[in-house]
Amino acid sequence: MITIIGIAGSLRKESFNLRLLQAAQAMAPKHLKIEIETLHDIPLYNADIEQAEGIPVAVQRLKDRIAETNGLLIASPEYNNSLPGVLKNAIDWLSRPPQDQARVFRGRPVAIMGATPGGMGTTLSQTAWLPVLRSLGTRPWFGRSLYVSAAHQVFDQYGIIQDDALGDRLRDFVAGFAAYAAGEN
Ligand SMILES: Cc1cc2nc3c(=O)[nH]c(=O)nc-3n(C[C@H](O)[C@H](O)[C@H](O)COP(=O)(O)O)c2cc1C
Repeated sequence: MITIIGIAGSLRKESFNLRLLQAAQAMAPKHLKIEIETLHDIPLYNADIEQAEGIPVAVQRLKDRIAETNGLLIASPEYNNSLPGVLKNAIDWLSRPPQDQARVFRGRPVAIMGATPGGMGTTLSQTAWLPVLRSLGTRPWFGRSLYVSAAHQVFDQYGIIQDDALGDRLRDFVAGFAAYAAGEN
């Protein structure tokens, strides 16, 4: 069994990126489990808190989950042509302390996809993530790309993807990343 942690970089209840992740979870093949984690309990990074109290419980828990599993699937919004602060903040916390960073991130398979109501499918956000993933020593997956434009027209009221071609691309993306996380390609 391959287990992948899925994180959507949005706190919004009706987040398109969360829906995309949930759709990926629903269509995962039998040998793949996608566990979706939320960022709601991750505080703003503050070095004073880290020094006085150490790593917050929610951060430590998420670090351990990522370290125990095969890969990380990120569904990232795009904000102002770049990556969203909520998710960057979480990654910053997850990278602390530096001596524990390798356990969580080094060599970790990571895939990025994203959804936006706009027309450019989060291309700039996904590109903006690359230096972050490199600095953490992850092993980003470039086997496919998934840029979801017009996201407000893609899901029905239950969060089900209405666009068959997109559904096929997501299925292919998930299967490809699962194989990569399993060390098969
Ligand atoms: C501050 C801010 C900046 C945004 N900038 C962009 C942008 O540069 N490109 C884009 O495609 N959408 C942009 N959007 C629209 C987001 O894609 C949209 O709010 C999306 O629904 C956020 O993702 P979510 O549905 O997962 O919460 C922006 C939204 C906000 C709030």
